[in-house]
Amino acid sequence: MEVVICRDYDEMSAKAGAAVADVVKAKPKAVLGFATGSSPIGLYKELIRMHKDEGLDFSKCLTFNLDEYCGLSGDHPQSYWYFMHENLFNHINVPKGKVNVPSGTEADHAAFCRAYEEKIAKAGGIDVQVLGIGSDGHIAFNEPTSSLGSRTRMVTLTEQTIDDNARFFEKREDVPRHAISMGVGTVMEAKKCVMVVNGANKAEALAAMVEGPVTSMITASALQWHPDAVVFVDEAASANLKMRDYYLWVQKSKSEA
Ligand code: F6R
Repeated sequence: MEVVICRDYDEMSAKAGAAVADVVKAKPKAVLGFATGSSPIGLYKELIRMHKDEGLDFSKCLTFNLDEYCGLSGDHPQSYWYFMHENLFNHINVPKGKVNVPSGTEADHAAFCRAYEEKIAKAGGIDVQVLGIGSDGHIAFNEPTSSLGSRTRMVTLTEQTIDDNARFFEKREDVPRHAISMGVGTVMEAKKCVMVVNGANKAEALAAMVEGPVTSMITASALQWHPDAVVFVDEAASANLKMRDYYLWVQKSKSEA
């Protein structure tokens, strides 16, 4: 796993945005995997900037989001469908029919999840998957003890995730307890993973993911097995990394090569 320590949130977002844009430039029909939450907002601003200022073209791209809350329809301001349109899709030229966000309102969740997996496979798989990490070490909504081979399914959120995400809702009780989430196995099949991690509250989870054992207690640690995972982190999030100096040395050596 490559760890890129950045000065601050802006540098992290710019570098991660450039990594995603490189995939789109190399493959105009790229299949893009997106995440929600506060971590990738700057990355999305960077993609919007590149679209507006540099003509970065998403017109042939297809997108798949990681997850959605159960019970929230797309017009709910806290739904991930709404979030993605507000923070990215309404500002770039990806065709509306090419956007996929799991639906949290299907009567038959299991059938929907199977169809979502099939749609990803039929598209040839995800070329680049944007990720954040939860303070409990989750990727997508794969909470501790989720199988590292899991696929898209309905999951139950931990109380810690509900607490973390309560800031987006009027009151804690409004946070749904369940979500539809890509599995760890689904994420691991993406050809490239670009993760953004910022803030001191993520320092412990980040260190466990990068330097701890691969374990379903920290589902993001599965990325240690991924052949092309890059993690862009800000100073505050990097505080607990034992190999911090090495990661800085690697980046310095790369830039001087
Ligand atoms: C969101 C997602 C989650 C978040 C994680 C971090 O689609 O899959 O794994 O990436 O909970 O959220 P923030 O960025 O809000 O700290």
